[in-house]
Amino acid sequence: MTTQPSPLSPQSSVLTPQSSALSTQPSVLNPQPSDLSTQPSALSPPSSTLNPQTSDLSTQPSAPKPQPSVLSSSQSSVLKPQSSVLLTPHSLLITGGAGFIGSNFVHYWIKKYQEDRVVILDALTYAGNPANLEPVANHPQYRFVHGDIRDYDLVVNLLQEEKIDTIVHFAAESHVDRSIHGPDAFVDTNIIGTHTLLKAAKKVWLDRSSEELESSSIAQSSVLSPQSSLCRFHHVSTDEVYGSLGPDDPAFSETTAYAPNSPYAASKAGSDYLVRSYFKTYGLPMTISNCSNNYGPYQFPEKLIPLLILNCLAGESLPIYGDGLNIRDWLHVDDHCRGIDLVLKKGTVGQTYNIGGNCEKTNMEVVEAICRLMDELSPNKDSAPYSSLITHVKDRLGHDRRYAIDANLITSELGYAPTESFETGLRKTVEWYLANQDWCQNIMVGNYREWIEKNYEK
Ligand code: NAD
Ligand code: TYD
Repeated sequence: MTTQPSPLSPQSSVLTPQSSALSTQPSVLNPQPSDLSTQPSALSPPSSTLNPQTSDLSTQPSAPKPQPSVLSSSQSSVLKPQSSVLLTPHSLLITGGAGFIGSNFVHYWIKKYQEDRVVILDALTYAGNPANLEPVANHPQYRFVHGDIRDYDLVVNLLQEEKIDTIVHFAAESHVDRSIHGPDAFVDTNIIGTHTLLKAAKKVWLDRSSEELESSSIAQSSVLSPQSSLCRFHHVSTDEVYGSLGPDDPAFSETTAYAPNSPYAASKAGSDYLVRSYFKTYGLPMTISNCSNNYGPYQFPEKLIPLLILNCLAGESLPIYGDGLNIRDWLHVDDHCRGIDLVLKKGTVGQTYNIGGNCEKTNMEVVEAICRLMDELSPNKDSAPYSSLITHVKDRLGHDRRYAIDANLITSELGYAPTESFETGLRKTVEWYLANQDWCQNIMVGNYREWIEKNYEK
């Protein structure tokens, strides 16, 4: 990257909300006027039908028992989130399971739910790494499928063959900087890919049960009917769909209007809308989680925290964009996995949950904390502090200033609370990278080297 001011830099007046033609009109992309985010929305939880104490659904025993349809579009033209019988996954399709969060989730699930079938679908892009799954690859319930989420026939076959009842959708192009250099892949995977999965889930879970309903009275209680809550499409999304916060703004809640700024964030927002639409239009049982920045083991070292750890080890500069005062809300990946588990098992169908770490840090605070840990755990041979490697470089285009998650909904409704503090989580993470040098060396080749050259103009 160069140090030239860019026409797209945040300083540029053409992109400020005050002057932009995009922002002066009620925009079709702005969910405020719709029922999506600002009203006591169709997706917001306060409706009494959502209260486990008052819901007619929750007066039933909690065993998974087919209910009169609350999701059936024949009864309601606008579907609302419904708490219902609890989902008990038995056979999961985990897309993007060879990536950072996906692989951590596979480890988490296999350890906690030994009996469940875990099928991973991953295209093994530069970010997918079979080594992330090695520790669980011999588990009897584990199956890895090398394939693309955009392959409709493959997905339909997998859903049928494995009797998948739960899709946990992580697969994505996930790096903001790459989306600035090449947005097309983000539209292809994040939007088209998510839509392909939705179409396949609808085909197998909904269309089949409708066909069965027509041909068989027994199928009235089909386990595959959407209202039975025995299937679920869980979409993993990001806080970046909400845009950027000012220093004193309240944290993002589930009702914050979408305002994505990067091609990555826009593609994730598009995928969120598609998931929502399949619930609203067809009754596909879904949940969405929008989480903050994750960190932990197996993260590809293009993202800030592993990049800084590995650059320390290599004695290379620690590149901090701009003034380094951008704020992110850091979430240890294990806490994220616990949050998704809660949403799957206890979450309200049709609902979005924000998952955060309650841990806002500036990038300077992050790099300084990593340098201190590295000084302690792997001191420089010449004893120079690692902080001497910190280098401010040209800012990212459209760099969001601050993200922060208001996790009150998942906390109050599902009992979520992060268990790692930044101090404990970061220490574990640095220790993991130090103990797994082979893993690091094996991925810091080829595509990774090319990316580093390109992004940092080495
Ligand atoms: P990652 O880049 O580490 O992994 C993505 C995985 O998806 C890789 O294994 C890759 O091979 C796979 N993949 C990509 N395109 C595919 C395709 N077309 N078909 C099948 N597989 C494909 O990403 P991550 O950091 O683990 O993020 C996982 C999810 O969480 C993403 O949806 C991301 O948007 C979301 N998220 C991540 C963070 C974070 O801090 N990492 C924060 C919020 C949300
Ligand atoms: P990143 O890990 O790319 O996550 P995201 O863009 O999804 O938040 O970046 C986290 C923060 O660190 C973000 O403010 C950009 C900044 N950053 C740097 O300062 N230098 C870097 O080399 C990278 C990769 C990120």
